[in-house]
Amino acid sequence: MDKNFVYKTNSFYWDTKGNEFLGAIVLPFYGAFVSEEKCQLFGDVSGKKMLEVGCGNGQSLQYQGERKASELWAVDISEKQIEKATQHLKACGLSAKLICSPMEEECGIPVDYFDFVYSIYAIGWTTDLEGTFCRIASYLKKDGVFIFSWSHPIHRCVVAENDMLVFNKCYFDESWYSLSLDDGVLTLSDRKLSTYVNALAKAGFAIEQMIEESDDEFMQSRDDNSDFAKRAKMLPVTFVVKARKL
Ligand SMILES: C[S@@+](CC[C@H](N)C(=O)[O-])C[C@H]1O[C@@H](n2cnc3c(N)ncnc32)[C@H](O)[C@@H]1O
Repeated sequence: MDKNFVYKTNSFYWDTKGNEFLGAIVLPFYGAFVSEEKCQLFGDVSGKKMLEVGCGNGQSLQYQGERKASELWAVDISEKQIEKATQHLKACGLSAKLICSPMEEECGIPVDYFDFVYSIYAIGWTTDLEGTFCRIASYLKKDGVFIFSWSHPIHRCVVAENDMLVFNKCYFDESWYSLSLDDGVLTLSDRKLSTYVNALAKAGFAIEQMIEESDDEFMQSRDDNSDFAKRAKMLPVTFVVKARKL
């Protein structure tokens, strides 16, 4: 895998396509059927310094700003997404320090500074999971909290066929591949859950909580009978981790 090729392909996708096809996943949602309102992983963020990794159009930063976080910072690889986030936050009357850079690279984010670093469906785009987790640990104060959500790797291995869910990809296969979406291309790797857990441990984090299950009540309240909702009843589609810097 050539990381510069991945940066180029993926930033081009978000610069040109944005979230039109994928849809934005933003707080209070960690994924389609998991919400902060139910899980309460952040708790009270008033007066806290927060950094978002892969902020997209800035709506999760808005969520934290409205909950009275004292400082909002973010990094995103796409100039267009940073531009959208800047405009969105300005319209909401919030100020934030937004940096356009790959999360993998040194980009001037202060170290030992943040109470929370979080990422909603963006961490998995990194070309260097261990390096990114080490960077995130360096940005956090001691005992600072890192929360992220990502597509559950088991969900990436299964397809629906004749009312059954069938494995069509090896769970252990972490090789990089190209995904064509809406006339655009993204490059990614589906990492095992243990790859995330081991990289967190190596970077000096202790996992405090992990969520895999969809919220039943929430699914019922939305009366969602889509194939995706049916799948979410059978297997995890999202995972969320709350980890603390030791
Ligand atoms: C699915 S979006 C998630 C962001 C936000 N939660 C949303 O739904 O809009 C993924 C974001 O990660 C950013 N991204 C992808 N690869 C990145 C990288 N290597 N470093 C920093 N940001 C990256 C993209 O530009 C995009 O804004």
